[in-house]
Amino acid sequence: MDQRHLLMHQAMLGDRRRVESYDQALAAVIDENTVVADVGAGTLALTALALRHGAAHVYAVEADPQIAAVADRIIKANGWQDRVTLIAGDARLVRLPQQADVTVCELMGNLGPEEDMARILRVFNRRNLRPGGAVVPERVVTWLAPVQFDAEGWGIWSEDFLGMRLDVVQELIEPTAHLHFLTRQPTLLGEPAVLVDTGRGDTGLRNARPLALPLHTAGTLHAVLGYFTATLAPGIELSNMPSYLGCNWAVFVWPLRHTPVAAGDTVHVRPRRPEGSAARDVTRWRLDCHLDRVGER
Ligand SMILES: C[S@@+](CC[C@H](N)C(=O)[O-])C[C@H]1O[C@@H](n2cnc3c(N)ncnc32)[C@H](O)[C@@H]1O
Repeated sequence: MDQRHLLMHQAMLGDRRRVESYDQALAAVIDENTVVADVGAGTLALTALALRHGAAHVYAVEADPQIAAVADRIIKANGWQDRVTLIAGDARLVRLPQQADVTVCELMGNLGPEEDMARILRVFNRRNLRPGGAVVPERVVTWLAPVQFDAEGWGIWSEDFLGMRLDVVQELIEPTAHLHFLTRQPTLLGEPAVLVDTGRGDTGLRNARPLALPLHTAGTLHAVLGYFTATLAPGIELSNMPSYLGCNWAVFVWPLRHTPVAAGDTVHVRPRRPEGSAARDVTRWRLDCHLDRVGER
């Protein structure tokens, strides 16, 4: 057994806000007649929640054979053989023996779409979800925001850190993303803007459009931050921004040369996938950036 898989699942199960948010969302859509499909079931946390809310049956679909073998052990250890059917395979190829009333899934990457959840669910639900059935989460939005850090992360490499010039380190910048857990809230220099929204039919970053980020606050632009907000059910939201204790998702940080900016300036950004990198390997995606200064128009 690859221990990295187990550690990943350990972090996900230890993320209390994640588990509690799904618990609340499932409570709203499950009763004792509900048939649930748990897509990407992993170590069955969401299956367990569905059963706790009285689901009649859960189909747990898991593509990774090692994790599916772990799930099989868990089902047997809990005596769930009558209420849970494990399907080891890619959800895009699965046809369930009966249609589900609810699909639940947690395939959000740090930025939101990099694990291809929207596309996987579209294919799976077309075959396996009854018309009018519920999907948890119902919507995932990826946001980009221009930020100034408060002496942390990429903001550390400034002209004055403990009285020392560290800005020379910025010359070593590579235009790829950092994964970061925030310990202090950065200053938002402008409103976050939507990059990808499954609610308007976007499925991923591949077709992401260029975005304009107008700045409303003067300061020093350090980076563009990327994060997601998932609406699990009406009024139940889960986001990796701001980072919280136990959060298993980092935020994305595209580092920039620290640049003084004024209110009214606009940062134009566009994620770009470098030649030869995998679509899912989003940390290698570059962010093309251009600053349009208010005084220079
Ligand atoms: C982020 S984990 C979530 C696990 C579990 N649902 C939970 O919330 O704790 C996603 C799981 O989906 C599985 N997975 C990814 N793509 C899949 C696919 N196309 N079909 C089925 N399972 C998939 C992964 O192997 C992984 O175990």
